[in-house]
Amino acid sequence: MNLARRTMNAPALAAVYERAWRPTLFYLASGRSTGADRRFAVDSLRLGTARRVLDIACGPGNFTRYLSEHVPADGYVTGIDYSPPMLARASADNSGPRAGYVRGDARNLPFADGTFDAVCCFGALYLIPDPLHAAREMIRVLAPDGRLAVTTSYRPGNAFGELTRRTAAVSGLRMFDGQTFPDLFAAAGLVDIDQQMHRFLQYLTAVKPAAAVPQHEGRSTTSNSEV
Ligand SMILES: C[S@@+](CC[C@H](N)C(=O)[O-])C[C@H]1O[C@@H](n2cnc3c(N)ncnc32)[C@H](O)[C@@H]1O
Repeated sequence: MNLARRTMNAPALAAVYERAWRPTLFYLASGRSTGADRRFAVDSLRLGTARRVLDIACGPGNFTRYLSEHVPADGYVTGIDYSPPMLARASADNSGPRAGYVRGDARNLPFADGTFDAVCCFGALYLIPDPLHAAREMIRVLAPDGRLAVTTSYRPGNAFGELTRRTAAVSGLRMFDGQTFPDLFAAAGLVDIDQQMHRFLQYLTAVKPAAAVPQHEGRSTTSNSEV
């Protein structure tokens, strides 16, 4: 397990993540506040009509509960994460009548195809081994007409971007170019793909059409020991 993933499993980080770690590091990385990121999530996922929502790699539930306050009265937001300390904080700090948590691996989601009206994954794909497989899993569990929102790392295609990639790799963080996810979404049949860059982060949204092109890649089992 590399440094970045070890850090995400540390109880000390889980304790300070929502109030200190996330607001500071994401502001430095993107120039955006947590409030702006939350508004992006609610707006892009169209939560007013989303009854079943999945927050992948939810950490301490810092988005999950906020999202649950914007779903319809019969809606529910499920947060899934691999880290026990993060999930303990989520249950303690961010439970609610329409928010709950399960432990699981983003690369092998324990949900049937098309289960959710909205699926998001913020600030995690760059930590996950096989991030493209994890992205395909998100699309698999998204229902037709469902909406997807992702925030992940971005490296510009120049010498500075290459320096950023090398520096981040030392701690086990992956920096993505601007093409990987739009291309993957388009290949999976998603439409209305939108991408915004803010410093070193990219914000993506997409929609699975009612008659999406089926994914041909089979699901593969990934060892949890790699998380
Ligand atoms: C930086 S936190 C993001 C938390 C929250 N989504 C946010 O935007 O603030 C990254 C989370 O990804 C989780 N994670 C990393 N690899 C994972 C995997 N393979 N499956 C599920 N969660 C994973 C970590 O445990 C950690 O809680």
